[in-house]
Amino acid sequence: MASYFFSSPRVYFGDGALTALNSLINKKVAIVTDEFMVTSGKVAYLTEQMPQATVSVYGKVRPDPDTDILQEGAAQFKAFRPQVIIALGGGSSLDAAKGIKVTLEDHYQRTDSRQYDIELIAIPTTSGSGSEVTSYAIISDPQNGRKYPLVSQALVPDTAILDPQLVLSVPRHIAVDTGMDVLTHAIEALVSTGANDFSDALAEKAIALTWQHLPQIYEDDKDVAARTHMHNASCMAGMAFNSAGLGLVHGMAHAIGGMLHIPHGKINAMLLPLVTEFNAAHASPETTRRYCLCAQIMGIATADPQDMISQLVERLRQLNQQFGIPCSLKELGTDLAAYETMRPLLTQAVLADGCTASNPCTPCAQSIDLLLSCIAETGEYRAPKFAVPVGISNRHVHLCREDMDVLFGYDSTLTRLKAVKQPGQFAAEETVTLRTPKGDIPNVRVLGPLRSVTQIEISVADSFALGVKAPVRMSGDLENSPGVELVGPKGQVSKPHGTIVAWRHIHISPQEAEHHGLRDGMEIDLQAQGQRAGILSHVLVRVSADAVPELHIDVEEANGLGLRNGDLLFRTGKVTHP
Ligand SMILES: NC(=O)c1ccc[n+]([C@@H]2O[C@H](COP(=O)([O-])OP(=O)(O)OC[C@H]3O[C@@H](n4cnc5c(N)ncnc54)[C@H](O)[C@@H]3O)[C@@H](O)[C@H]2O)c1
Ligand SMILES: [Zn+2]
Ligand SMILES: [Zn+2]
Repeated sequence: MASYFFSSPRVYFGDGALTALNSLINKKVAIVTDEFMVTSGKVAYLTEQMPQATVSVYGKVRPDPDTDILQEGAAQFKAFRPQVIIALGGGSSLDAAKGIKVTLEDHYQRTDSRQYDIELIAIPTTSGSGSEVTSYAIISDPQNGRKYPLVSQALVPDTAILDPQLVLSVPRHIAVDTGMDVLTHAIEALVSTGANDFSDALAEKAIALTWQHLPQIYEDDKDVAARTHMHNASCMAGMAFNSAGLGLVHGMAHAIGGMLHIPHGKINAMLLPLVTEFNAAHASPETTRRYCLCAQIMGIATADPQDMISQLVERLRQLNQQFGIPCSLKELGTDLAAYETMRPLLTQAVLADGCTASNPCTPCAQSIDLLLSCIAETGEYRAPKFAVPVGISNRHVHLCREDMDVLFGYDSTLTRLKAVKQPGQFAAEETVTLRTPKGDIPNVRVLGPLRSVTQIEISVADSFALGVKAPVRMSGDLENSPGVELVGPKGQVSKPHGTIVAWRHIHISPQEAEHHGLRDGMEIDLQAQGQRAGILSHVLVRVSADAVPELHIDVEEANGLGLRNGDLLFRTGKVTHP
């Protein structure tokens, strides 16, 4: 079992939480914030709470703070030497304050080689980033327009103060953008590879609170109770993802938002249904279970997991629509020609982003490129259509060394007749006769190379002819299968078992499987075209290194669907897990 980490700053919350600042007596306090907080009187309101502190204010943070702001803020405070920094504002101000704090500490340490610890108090004025309790600071690089998540324990505030009075002035459109950021934090934490019991508890509650109260705020932005719950939810979601990590929504949002300057919550909201669809298509049973849990919290009740996730995605889209959040970059009015030119850089940035690393599935560059197209055009996931050529197997046997010795002579070898598609495999010139009391089937091809156990693969019609009840099985699964006698030119062996009808399956390499969202052991449906068109269900996926994509069925199945070697079948229908 992996080890996890959970810690949290002191959190004061509810009406009057700001009175916690009374304890700042005879302290030098630096406030980092934006212009609105100064002009709207929020900074003055704050300083009233700490009459015995000496205060200096840096009020020039802009959305998506960059390294220039950190330098400028730190420069202003160098001579002041604050003992406490108060971060006041949205995620941008909180992250800027974190950056200024470590820049200052670093500066003092270098000048008088002493350890410096500036106390950090975070007071969020949006219900969104959760930055008041996280070890993250998202800082933009003005040179290349990219946003980088910095992660360090030194960035975790000592204290967070959640005063709902401070968020009442957040306009509706910002409340929904930032609120969708909360929902994204909670859902990504819930399905993250780092999810754990502690983060789950907080993520689940944050989803429930957001689902219930964010629409209420949209209806009535003066609803103090709803604002209070959303403010708490934002902090809980922050605690959850600080422990569990985030996912591909944030990986993509940092890249796209950084280059196109879209508000963080809005681009997250736009990506959330799309990435949920993508992750669900590539989900392990555990990830599916977690998305279903999320759907349940949102009140979706159906028995079928795939239906549940489809409805979840649908509700996320409805929520965006209700809040006036566009579903694609096209609808947002982005210059798509300019976007196209950024695409290679965007793909790189998404792959390199720390949040992408804890996504429940690992996306390859091809998948990210596809998702970048999807968010530009429709916001809906178009799974690449998986097509596979058929390879039809006639009845055949695989022999072990001992049986080969008896049937074809001691130390005899198989003679290669022709290669089959899977690397290393071949049809041999050698044939045997299958014999039972009911009859003979002559000229049954031996397939090479030799294996550790002899296996006889026949059709259902053959089982009737031989009077045996061969079960439909995967290769190697021979328990309680019937036997036959094998007759060769040099001798004969009576096999007590080992006769099966092969379970229809595809072979595929790990890379191809990843790209198409297939996993070893999964069952899929494949559609055959043509006059005898039909669907093959329960096609087992077998992933192995070097495998060439191919569907293996026997002659009867092929004839039933009018298939010939090399015909293409397309993936369709639902994914079922064994
Ligand atoms: N550090 C983290 O853990 C973390 C997590 C998620 C996001 N982020 C970062 O946080 C930033 C986004 O934060 P945000 O969504 O809070 O937006 P923001 O801080 O950029 O603020 C958005 C706008 O809301 C205004 N605003 C803030 N509080 C207000 C109030 N009480 N009344 C009226 N207006 C108010 C701001 O002036 C600003 O114009 C992004 O840079 C994002 O990358 C950080
Ligand atoms: Zn976020
Ligand atoms: Zn096979």
